[in-house]
Amino acid sequence: MTALTKESDFTGGGFDVERIRTDFPILFREVYGKPLVYLDNGASAQKPRPVLDAIEHAYKMEYANVHRGLHYLSNTATQNYENARETVRRFLNAESADEIVFTRNLTEAVNLVASSFGMDFKAGDEIVLSIMEHHSNIVPWHFLRERKGCVIKWAPISDSGELLLDEFERLLSKRTRMVAITHMSNVLGTIVPIKEVVRIAHARGIPVLVDGAQAAVHLPIDVQELDCDFYGFTGHKTYGPSGIGVLYAKRKHLDAMPPYMGGGEMIESVHRDRVAYGKTPHKFEAGTPPIVQAVGLGAALDYMMQVGRGRIAAYEAGLKDYAHERLSGFNWLKIHGHAKDKGAIVSFSVEGLHPHDISTIIDRSGVAVRAGHHCAQPLMERLGVTATCRASFAMYNTRAEVDALAEALVKAHEFFA
Ligand SMILES: Cc1ncc(COP(=O)(O)O)c(C=O)c1O
Repeated sequence: MTALTKESDFTGGGFDVERIRTDFPILFREVYGKPLVYLDNGASAQKPRPVLDAIEHAYKMEYANVHRGLHYLSNTATQNYENARETVRRFLNAESADEIVFTRNLTEAVNLVASSFGMDFKAGDEIVLSIMEHHSNIVPWHFLRERKGCVIKWAPISDSGELLLDEFERLLSKRTRMVAITHMSNVLGTIVPIKEVVRIAHARGIPVLVDGAQAAVHLPIDVQELDCDFYGFTGHKTYGPSGIGVLYAKRKHLDAMPPYMGGGEMIESVHRDRVAYGKTPHKFEAGTPPIVQAVGLGAALDYMMQVGRGRIAAYEAGLKDYAHERLSGFNWLKIHGHAKDKGAIVSFSVEGLHPHDISTIIDRSGVAVRAGHHCAQPLMERLGVTATCRASFAMYNTRAEVDALAEALVKAHEFFA
Protein backbone atom coordinates (compact mmCIF):
# COMPACT_ATOMS: atom_id res chain seq x y z
CA MET A 1 0.00 0.00 0.00
CA THR A 2 1.27 3.46 -0.79
CA ALA A 3 1.96 6.04 1.85
CA LEU A 4 -0.59 8.71 2.62
CA THR A 5 -0.08 11.74 0.56
CA LYS A 6 -3.14 13.88 0.94
CA GLU A 7 -6.07 14.49 3.25
CA SER A 8 -8.54 13.08 0.76
CA ASP A 9 -6.95 9.63 1.23
CA PHE A 10 -9.09 9.44 4.34
CA THR A 11 -12.16 11.24 3.10
CA GLY A 12 -15.33 9.39 3.93
CA GLY A 13 -13.46 6.64 5.71
CA GLY A 14 -13.11 6.06 9.41
CA PHE A 15 -9.79 5.66 11.15
CA ASP A 16 -8.20 2.68 9.42
CA VAL A 17 -5.38 1.55 11.68
CA GLU A 18 -4.32 -1.30 9.41
CA ARG A 19 -3.94 1.18 6.59
CA ILE A 20 -1.88 3.49 8.79
CA ARG A 21 0.35 0.65 9.93
CA THR A 22 1.43 0.02 6.35
CA ASP A 23 3.11 3.43 6.40
CA PHE A 24 5.45 2.40 9.24
CA PRO A 25 7.92 -0.19 7.89
CA ILE A 26 9.46 -0.99 11.28
CA LEU A 27 6.14 -2.32 12.58
CA PHE A 28 6.54 -5.32 10.28
CA ARG A 29 9.83 -6.52 11.71
CA GLU A 30 10.13 -9.22 14.31
CA VAL A 31 12.09 -9.28 17.55
CA TYR A 32 13.16 -12.64 19.03
CA GLY A 33 11.11 -14.25 16.25
CA LYS A 34 7.92 -12.54 17.49
CA PRO A 35 5.96 -9.71 15.91
CA LEU A 36 7.08 -6.38 17.33
CA VAL A 37 4.56 -4.81 19.71
CA TYR A 38 5.95 -1.33 20.16
CA LEU A 39 4.42 0.36 23.19
CA ASP A 40 7.25 2.74 24.03
CA ASN A 41 5.99 5.65 21.99
CA GLY A 42 6.18 8.01 24.94
CA ALA A 43 9.95 7.66 24.75
CA SER A 44 10.07 7.99 20.96
CA ALA A 45 7.64 7.24 18.15
CA GLN A 46 8.33 5.31 14.94
CA LYS A 47 8.54 7.10 11.59
CA PRO A 48 6.12 6.81 8.67
CA ARG A 49 7.31 6.43 5.10
CA PRO A 50 6.62 10.06 4.09
CA VAL A 51 9.08 11.15 6.80
CA LEU A 52 11.71 8.62 5.74
CA ASP A 53 11.20 9.64 2.10
CA ALA A 54 11.42 13.37 2.87
CA ILE A 55 14.68 12.86 4.76
CA GLU A 56 16.19 10.73 2.01
CA HIS A 57 15.12 13.17 -0.69
CA ALA A 58 16.49 16.17 1.23
CA TYR A 59 19.91 14.54 1.58
CA LYS A 60 19.95 12.98 -1.88
CA MET A 61 18.69 15.87 -3.99
CA GLU A 62 18.29 19.12 -2.06
CA TYR A 63 21.06 19.33 0.48
CA ALA A 64 23.16 22.41 1.23
CA ASN A 65 23.54 24.73 4.18
CA VAL A 66 20.72 27.22 4.75
CA HIS A 67 20.58 31.01 4.94
CA ARG A 68 24.16 31.20 3.65
CA GLY A 69 24.71 30.57 -0.02
CA LEU A 70 23.21 32.27 -3.01
CA HIS A 71 23.33 29.19 -5.17
CA TYR A 72 20.41 27.03 -6.25
CA LEU A 73 20.79 24.22 -3.72
CA SER A 74 21.25 26.57 -0.80
CA ASN A 75 18.15 28.49 -1.81
CA THR A 76 16.19 25.26 -2.15
CA ALA A 77 17.36 23.95 1.23
CA THR A 78 16.55 27.33 2.83
CA GLN A 79 13.09 27.29 1.31
CA ASN A 80 12.48 23.74 2.59
CA TYR A 81 13.71 24.70 6.07
CA GLU A 82 11.44 27.76 6.18
CA ASN A 83 8.52 25.76 4.74
CA ALA A 84 8.94 23.39 7.70
CA ARG A 85 8.67 26.38 10.03
CA GLU A 86 5.41 27.33 8.34
CA THR A 87 4.16 23.74 8.78
CA VAL A 88 4.92 23.98 12.50
CA ARG A 89 3.03 27.27 12.61
CA ARG A 90 -0.02 25.57 11.08
CA PHE A 91 0.36 22.58 13.41
CA LEU A 92 0.25 24.85 16.48
CA ASN A 93 -1.99 27.49 14.91
CA ALA A 94 0.53 30.19 15.84
CA GLU A 95 -0.14 33.64 14.48
CA SER A 96 3.17 33.93 12.68
CA ALA A 97 6.02 31.65 11.60
CA ASP A 98 8.34 34.19 13.28
CA GLU A 99 7.07 32.83 16.59
CA ILE A 100 8.54 29.39 15.83
CA VAL A 101 12.12 28.70 16.93
CA PHE A 102 13.77 25.43 15.97
CA THR A 103 15.71 23.81 18.79
CA ARG A 104 17.33 20.40 19.21
CA ASN A 105 14.49 19.04 21.35
CA LEU A 106 12.00 20.03 24.06
CA THR A 107 14.80 20.11 26.59
CA GLU A 108 16.60 22.83 24.67
CA ALA A 109 13.37 24.79 24.28
CA VAL A 110 12.91 24.97 28.07
CA ASN A 111 16.59 25.74 28.64
CA LEU A 112 16.34 28.57 26.13
CA VAL A 113 13.41 30.15 27.98
CA ALA A 114 14.87 29.62 31.47
CA SER A 115 18.20 31.03 30.41
CA SER A 116 17.01 33.94 28.27
CA PHE A 117 13.59 34.93 29.66
CA GLY A 118 14.86 34.07 33.14
CA MET A 119 17.99 36.18 32.78
CA ASP A 120 16.62 39.01 34.91
CA PHE A 121 14.93 36.82 37.55
CA LYS A 122 16.14 37.77 41.03
CA ALA A 123 16.72 36.00 44.34
CA GLY A 124 13.36 35.23 45.88
CA ASP A 125 11.49 35.23 42.56
CA GLU A 126 9.25 32.20 42.25
CA ILE A 127 8.73 29.60 39.57
CA VAL A 128 5.69 27.36 39.85
CA LEU A 129 5.90 23.83 38.43
CA SER A 130 3.57 20.86 38.80
CA ILE A 131 4.70 17.76 40.61
CA MET A 132 4.16 15.84 37.34
CA GLU A 133 6.96 17.53 35.40
CA HIS A 134 9.58 15.72 33.37
CA HIS A 135 13.16 16.57 34.43
CA SER A 136 13.45 18.64 31.23
CA ASN A 137 10.96 21.06 32.73
CA ILE A 138 12.53 20.94 36.18
CA VAL A 139 16.30 21.05 35.91
CA PRO A 140 16.52 24.28 33.84
CA TRP A 141 14.52 25.98 36.65
CA HIS A 142 16.81 24.41 39.27
CA PHE A 143 19.63 26.25 37.47
CA LEU A 144 17.84 29.51 38.32
CA ARG A 145 17.32 28.34 41.90
CA GLU A 146 21.02 27.47 42.26
CA ARG A 147 22.47 30.42 40.35
CA LYS A 148 20.10 33.24 41.30
CA GLY A 149 18.35 32.10 44.45
CA CYS A 150 14.94 31.68 42.78
CA VAL A 151 12.36 29.58 44.60
CA ILE A 152 10.59 26.61 42.99
CA LYS A 153 7.05 25.85 44.16
CA TRP A 154 5.25 22.63 43.33
CA ALA A 155 1.58 22.40 42.37
CA PRO A 156 0.13 19.17 43.76
CA ILE A 157 -2.10 16.52 42.19
CA SER A 158 -4.97 14.42 43.51
CA ASP A 159 -4.60 10.68 44.07
CA SER A 160 -6.15 10.07 40.65
CA GLY A 161 -3.47 12.26 39.08
CA GLU A 162 -5.33 15.50 38.41
CA LEU A 163 -3.79 18.91 38.93
CA LEU A 164 -5.39 20.55 41.98
CA LEU A 165 -6.29 23.88 40.43
CA ASP A 166 -7.27 25.62 43.68
CA GLU A 167 -3.98 24.70 45.30
CA PHE A 168 -2.13 25.72 42.17
CA GLU A 169 -3.82 29.11 42.33
CA ARG A 170 -2.90 29.53 46.00
CA LEU A 171 0.80 29.08 45.11
CA LEU A 172 0.83 32.14 42.87
CA SER A 173 2.16 35.31 44.47
CA LYS A 174 3.56 38.73 43.61
CA ARG A 175 6.95 37.05 43.31
CA THR A 176 5.85 34.43 40.74
CA ARG A 177 7.76 35.04 37.50
CA MET A 178 6.80 31.89 35.61
CA VAL A 179 4.42 28.95 35.59
CA ALA A 180 6.02 26.03 33.73
CA ILE A 181 3.76 23.04 33.35
CA THR A 182 3.21 19.94 31.28
CA HIS A 183 0.24 19.65 28.93
CA MET A 184 0.20 15.88 29.36
CA SER A 185 2.03 13.83 31.97
CA ASN A 186 4.47 11.34 30.47
CA VAL A 187 3.76 8.95 33.38
CA LEU A 188 0.10 9.37 34.33
CA GLY A 189 -1.25 10.45 30.97
CA THR A 190 -3.10 13.28 32.75
CA ILE A 191 -4.12 16.07 30.40
CA VAL A 192 -3.76 19.36 32.23
CA PRO A 193 -6.44 22.03 31.63
CA ILE A 194 -3.92 24.49 30.20
CA LYS A 195 -6.50 27.08 29.20
CA GLU A 196 -7.64 27.32 32.80
CA VAL A 197 -4.04 27.38 34.11
CA VAL A 198 -3.23 30.21 31.71
CA ARG A 199 -6.38 32.13 32.66
CA ILE A 200 -5.49 31.91 36.35
CA ALA A 201 -1.84 32.87 35.80
CA HIS A 202 -2.57 35.68 33.35
CA ALA A 203 -5.07 37.22 35.77
CA ARG A 204 -1.97 37.93 37.89
CA GLY A 205 0.24 38.88 34.94
CA ILE A 206 2.30 35.67 35.16
CA PRO A 207 3.55 34.04 31.93
CA VAL A 208 3.01 30.34 31.27
CA LEU A 209 5.35 27.87 29.57
CA VAL A 210 3.79 24.60 28.43
CA ASP A 211 5.75 21.38 27.96
CA GLY A 212 3.92 19.79 25.05
CA ALA A 213 6.36 16.91 24.51
CA GLN A 214 3.62 14.32 25.06
CA ALA A 215 0.53 16.35 24.21
CA ALA A 216 1.68 17.35 20.72
CA VAL A 217 1.50 13.77 19.46
CA HIS A 218 -1.88 12.98 21.00
CA LEU A 219 -3.97 16.17 20.90
CA PRO A 220 -4.83 18.98 18.51
CA ILE A 221 -2.89 22.03 19.73
CA ASP A 222 -3.95 25.64 19.25
CA VAL A 223 -1.57 28.02 20.98
CA GLN A 224 -3.76 31.04 20.26
CA GLU A 225 -6.71 29.38 21.93
CA LEU A 226 -4.58 28.23 24.87
CA ASP A 227 -3.12 31.74 25.04
CA CYS A 228 0.08 30.35 26.58
CA ASP A 229 3.26 32.41 26.35
CA PHE A 230 5.57 29.51 25.45
CA TYR A 231 4.83 26.05 24.06
CA GLY A 232 7.53 23.48 23.34
CA PHE A 233 7.57 20.03 21.79
CA THR A 234 10.07 17.57 20.41
CA GLY A 235 10.29 16.08 16.91
CA HIS A 236 11.08 12.46 17.66
CA LYS A 237 7.90 11.90 19.67
CA THR A 238 5.69 13.35 16.91
CA TYR A 239 6.75 10.73 14.32
CA GLY A 240 9.60 12.97 13.18
CA PRO A 241 13.38 12.66 13.46
CA SER A 242 15.43 13.18 16.60
CA GLY A 243 17.67 16.23 16.81
CA ILE A 244 14.89 18.76 16.29
CA GLY A 245 12.43 20.42 18.63
CA VAL A 246 10.25 23.49 18.65
CA LEU A 247 9.78 26.48 20.86
CA TYR A 248 6.71 28.58 20.16
CA ALA A 249 6.72 31.93 21.94
CA LYS A 250 4.57 35.02 21.65
CA ARG A 251 6.30 37.53 19.45
CA LYS A 252 6.47 40.17 22.20
CA HIS A 253 8.53 37.78 24.34
CA LEU A 254 10.90 36.68 21.57
CA ASP A 255 11.54 40.28 20.57
CA ALA A 256 12.36 41.24 24.16
CA MET A 257 14.44 38.18 25.02
CA PRO A 258 18.24 38.21 24.62
CA PRO A 259 19.78 35.47 22.46
CA TYR A 260 20.47 32.15 24.13
CA MET A 261 23.55 31.13 22.16
CA GLY A 262 25.93 33.16 20.06
CA GLY A 263 27.44 32.25 16.71
CA GLY A 264 26.88 32.35 12.99
CA GLU A 265 23.51 33.14 11.46
CA MET A 266 22.02 34.80 14.54
CA ILE A 267 23.64 38.17 13.96
CA GLU A 268 23.04 41.25 11.89
CA SER A 269 26.64 42.41 12.14
CA VAL A 270 29.76 41.64 14.15
CA HIS A 271 32.64 44.06 14.75
CA ARG A 272 35.62 44.05 17.03
CA ASP A 273 33.87 46.19 19.62
CA ARG A 274 30.18 45.54 19.09
CA VAL A 275 27.63 43.08 17.80
CA ALA A 276 24.06 43.45 16.57
CA TYR A 277 21.70 40.51 16.63
CA GLY A 278 19.35 39.33 13.91
CA LYS A 279 15.58 39.32 14.18
CA THR A 280 13.40 36.63 15.73
CA PRO A 281 13.33 33.72 15.27
CA HIS A 282 16.82 33.65 13.72
CA LYS A 283 18.53 35.32 16.67
CA PHE A 284 17.76 32.12 18.62
CA GLU A 285 19.15 29.75 15.99
CA ALA A 286 22.92 30.17 16.23
CA GLY A 287 25.07 27.95 14.04
CA THR A 288 24.04 25.49 11.34
CA PRO A 289 20.54 24.35 12.31
CA PRO A 290 19.10 20.82 12.03
CA ILE A 291 18.29 21.34 8.35
CA VAL A 292 17.12 17.93 7.23
CA GLN A 293 15.59 17.19 10.63
CA ALA A 294 13.35 20.23 10.11
CA VAL A 295 12.26 18.86 6.75
CA GLY A 296 11.53 15.48 8.36
CA LEU A 297 9.59 17.16 11.15
CA GLY A 298 7.53 19.09 8.60
CA ALA A 299 6.67 15.81 6.85
CA ALA A 300 5.71 14.20 10.17
CA LEU A 301 3.42 17.05 11.19
CA ASP A 302 1.85 17.07 7.73
CA TYR A 303 1.24 13.36 8.12
CA MET A 304 -0.51 13.86 11.45
CA MET A 305 -2.60 16.70 10.07
CA GLN A 306 -3.59 14.58 7.07
CA VAL A 307 -4.71 11.71 9.26
CA GLY A 308 -6.47 14.27 11.45
CA ARG A 309 -5.53 14.94 15.04
CA GLY A 310 -9.12 14.75 16.23
CA ARG A 311 -9.35 11.28 14.71
CA ILE A 312 -6.04 10.23 16.22
CA ALA A 313 -7.14 11.43 19.66
CA ALA A 314 -10.49 9.64 19.39
CA TYR A 315 -8.87 6.38 18.25
CA GLU A 316 -6.21 6.50 20.96
CA ALA A 317 -8.84 7.21 23.63
CA GLY A 318 -10.48 3.91 22.68
CA LEU A 319 -7.13 2.11 22.93
CA LYS A 320 -6.42 3.63 26.34
CA ASP A 321 -9.87 2.63 27.63
CA TYR A 322 -9.34 -0.89 26.35
CA ALA A 323 -5.90 -1.08 27.98
CA HIS A 324 -7.44 0.07 31.28
CA GLU A 325 -10.19 -2.51 30.93
CA ARG A 326 -7.73 -5.35 30.27
CA LEU A 327 -5.14 -4.44 32.88
CA SER A 328 -7.57 -3.57 35.63
CA GLY A 329 -8.78 -7.17 35.40
CA PHE A 330 -5.53 -8.27 37.12
CA ASN A 331 -5.72 -8.01 40.91
CA TRP A 332 -1.91 -8.11 41.10
CA LEU A 333 -1.46 -5.00 38.95
CA LYS A 334 -1.95 -1.36 39.88
CA ILE A 335 -2.53 1.36 37.29
CA HIS A 336 -1.10 4.79 38.18
CA GLY A 337 -3.21 7.66 36.93
CA HIS A 338 -6.99 7.75 36.59
CA ALA A 339 -7.55 11.34 35.55
CA LYS A 340 -10.88 12.01 33.82
CA ASP A 341 -8.99 13.65 31.00
CA LYS A 342 -6.21 11.22 30.20
CA GLY A 343 -4.20 10.46 27.05
CA ALA A 344 -2.98 7.10 25.78
CA ILE A 345 -0.32 6.40 28.40
CA VAL A 346 -0.80 3.65 30.98
CA SER A 347 1.74 3.30 33.80
CA PHE A 348 1.49 0.40 36.18
CA SER A 349 3.18 -1.61 38.92
CA VAL A 350 2.98 -5.36 39.46
CA GLU A 351 2.90 -6.68 43.00
CA GLY A 352 6.27 -8.10 44.06
CA LEU A 353 7.97 -7.45 40.73
CA HIS A 354 10.47 -4.76 39.80
CA PRO A 355 9.43 -2.81 36.68
CA HIS A 356 12.81 -3.59 35.08
CA ASP A 357 12.17 -7.31 35.47
CA ILE A 358 8.70 -7.03 33.96
CA SER A 359 10.00 -5.04 31.03
CA THR A 360 12.85 -7.48 30.41
CA ILE A 361 10.57 -10.51 30.54
CA ILE A 362 7.81 -9.16 28.29
CA ASP A 363 10.43 -7.93 25.84
CA ARG A 364 11.07 -11.62 25.07
CA SER A 365 7.47 -11.79 23.85
CA GLY A 366 8.21 -8.88 21.52
CA VAL A 367 6.46 -6.31 23.73
CA ALA A 368 8.45 -3.09 24.19
CA VAL A 369 7.51 -0.94 27.18
CA ARG A 370 9.50 1.52 29.26
CA ALA A 371 10.49 0.83 32.85
CA GLY A 372 12.08 3.29 35.23
CA HIS A 373 11.41 6.67 36.78
CA HIS A 374 10.61 8.19 33.38
CA CYS A 375 12.67 11.29 34.23
CA ALA A 376 9.95 12.27 36.70
CA GLN A 377 11.45 11.57 40.10
CA PRO A 378 9.41 14.16 42.06
CA LEU A 379 6.29 12.43 40.71
CA MET A 380 7.68 9.00 41.64
CA GLU A 381 8.11 10.32 45.22
CA ARG A 382 4.51 11.56 45.19
CA LEU A 383 3.33 8.12 44.02
CA GLY A 384 5.48 6.37 46.63
CA VAL A 385 7.40 4.28 44.10
CA THR A 386 10.88 4.43 42.60
CA ALA A 387 9.86 3.24 39.15
CA THR A 388 6.90 2.04 37.09
CA CYS A 389 6.28 0.23 33.83
CA ARG A 390 4.74 2.35 31.11
CA ALA A 391 2.83 1.34 28.00
CA SER A 392 2.49 4.38 25.77
CA PHE A 393 0.40 4.17 22.63
CA ALA A 394 0.57 5.72 19.18
CA MET A 395 -1.91 6.03 16.33
CA TYR A 396 -0.63 2.73 14.84
CA ASN A 397 -1.20 0.54 17.89
CA THR A 398 -4.10 -1.91 17.98
CA ARG A 399 -6.38 -3.66 20.44
CA ALA A 400 -4.63 -6.90 19.49
CA GLU A 401 -1.40 -5.33 20.77
CA VAL A 402 -3.11 -4.44 24.05
CA ASP A 403 -4.08 -8.13 24.26
CA ALA A 404 -0.45 -9.10 23.55
CA LEU A 405 0.68 -6.82 26.39
CA ALA A 406 -1.88 -8.33 28.77
CA GLU A 407 -0.89 -11.90 27.85
CA ALA A 408 2.83 -11.15 28.20
CA LEU A 409 2.16 -9.64 31.64
CA VAL A 410 0.24 -12.72 32.75
CA LYS A 411 3.19 -14.89 31.67
CA ALA A 412 5.67 -12.65 33.49
CA HIS A 413 3.54 -12.70 36.62
CA GLU A 414 3.23 -16.48 36.53
CA PHE A 415 6.97 -16.82 35.91
CA PHE A 416 7.84 -14.92 39.07
CA ALA A 417 4.92 -16.14 41.23
C1 LIG B 1 6.69 15.42 29.18
C2 LIG B 1 8.09 15.39 28.60
N1 LIG B 1 8.83 16.51 28.60
C3 LIG B 1 10.05 16.54 28.08
C4 LIG B 1 10.62 15.44 27.51
C5 LIG B 1 12.02 15.55 26.94
O1 LIG B 1 12.01 15.44 25.55
P1 LIG B 1 13.42 15.57 24.79
O2 LIG B 1 14.33 14.56 25.44
O3 LIG B 1 13.13 15.22 23.38
O4 LIG B 1 13.91 16.94 24.99
C6 LIG B 1 9.92 14.25 27.50
C7 LIG B 1 10.55 13.03 26.95
O5 LIG B 1 10.39 11.95 27.45
C8 LIG B 1 8.62 14.23 28.04
O6 LIG B 1 7.90 13.11 28.05
